[in-house]
Amino acid sequence: MSNYLSMDRAAREREFTAVRSEYETLRAAGARLDMSRGKPGFDQMDLSHAIFDTVTNATGYVNRTGTDCRNYGGLDGLVELKELFSEILGVAPEQIIVGGNSSLNMMFDTVAQAMTHGFGGAPWMRQGTVKFLCPAPGYDRHFAICEYFGIEMIPVANTPDGPDMDRVEALVRDPSVKGMWCVPKYSNPQGITYSDETVRRIAALRPAADDFRVFWDNAYAIHDLYDTGDTLLNVYDACVQAGNPDLVIQFLSTSKITFPGAGVAAEAGSPANVALLKRRMSFQTIGPDKLNQLRHARLFHSPDDLKAHMKQHAAILRPKFEAVLRAFDEQLAGTGVAEWTTPRGGYFISLDVLPGCAKRVASLCEEAGLILTTAGATYPYGIDPADRNLRIAPSYPTVTELEQAARLLCVAVRYAALEKLLA
Ligand SMILES: Cc1ncc(COP(=O)(O)O)c(C=O)c1O
Repeated sequence: MSNYLSMDRAAREREFTAVRSEYETLRAAGARLDMSRGKPGFDQMDLSHAIFDTVTNATGYVNRTGTDCRNYGGLDGLVELKELFSEILGVAPEQIIVGGNSSLNMMFDTVAQAMTHGFGGAPWMRQGTVKFLCPAPGYDRHFAICEYFGIEMIPVANTPDGPDMDRVEALVRDPSVKGMWCVPKYSNPQGITYSDETVRRIAALRPAADDFRVFWDNAYAIHDLYDTGDTLLNVYDACVQAGNPDLVIQFLSTSKITFPGAGVAAEAGSPANVALLKRRMSFQTIGPDKLNQLRHARLFHSPDDLKAHMKQHAAILRPKFEAVLRAFDEQLAGTGVAEWTTPRGGYFISLDVLPGCAKRVASLCEEAGLILTTAGATYPYGIDPADRNLRIAPSYPTVTELEQAARLLCVAVRYAALEKLLA
């Protein structure tokens, strides 16, 4: 494609006429497409259908250690799942709490606990302004938790290796900075994995606040698209080596392994952190849904079972990612008005358009029947200062729908860019 930035005005006008007519044709086709949320497709959920036969009257309800999963008890979850998650999280099973159906819920509760009861110190809410470092673009629901609790968000740019660590190291010298969100593997939305160096620098942080915690949301820990996935350094080991065992609290869930909203979530940390979390939980609940935990334990007996299952997810997701990336290569490469990530796992592609155009691209798409994640949602307070980032979620539509959607998106990106360049 010709570079829009180096075209003269007459060439841009000719190109705009052609792009506008293509857009009008697509709009008239009246599509109904949605690339807004990272939901698994129905065929991905079908992969876990055997789970419904794992806990029946015939199989019984008792786990390996003799717990009747129909009854109350077992605050921190079944040992089978602690063992299963132990390899992924890189900590001992005793350092894992297996909870309910949502890791986001566990993150929310952990922040709430710190606000009202502190995390080894005075309640955060009694210590004046509370600030969080928010690598951006990032996950909108992390930012929503901060907004809910009135936590001031400080955006930190993401590099291909993870958050800009020079800035993070400088910012944690402020004692009101109490936390930091991290999606360390196949991040939402860029699909980047933190380098070893970034993980080590995070683990070695010396924040002014003793009760500072890193919220390590490893939502896409095993969600590779290719046989060789990205590798992430064991953050807990790095923390221990740096003399900082309490710094990081990890989260994961099976939302995108079995069923979103009906999976199992877990939280992990140092023995001291786990003790604090369990104390709060002992007031909050008599125990999690162990029947659902048992179903998961019986579906996945070992990390190898999980790996085999994730390969089946990858086989469904890979062509979807590739359809979108192929469209970007064919229809945007060389225009100079778009850049995108090429993740090797996770659920998202991040698309940066010409600054000042993301909102316009989203509205052009919407008018033509394609819903995208709200422009700006990937930044704290919903404000993308450059108005350029769009999160693309290719998991839910079919490949054919994605081809249609990606074509429309590319036309909208070019339309908005030319409109701006000609203004
Ligand atoms: C980074 C990240 N964390 C957490 C979640 C939600 O996880 P859960 O379903 O376990 O609450 C998502 C879902 O999109 C996500 O992208």
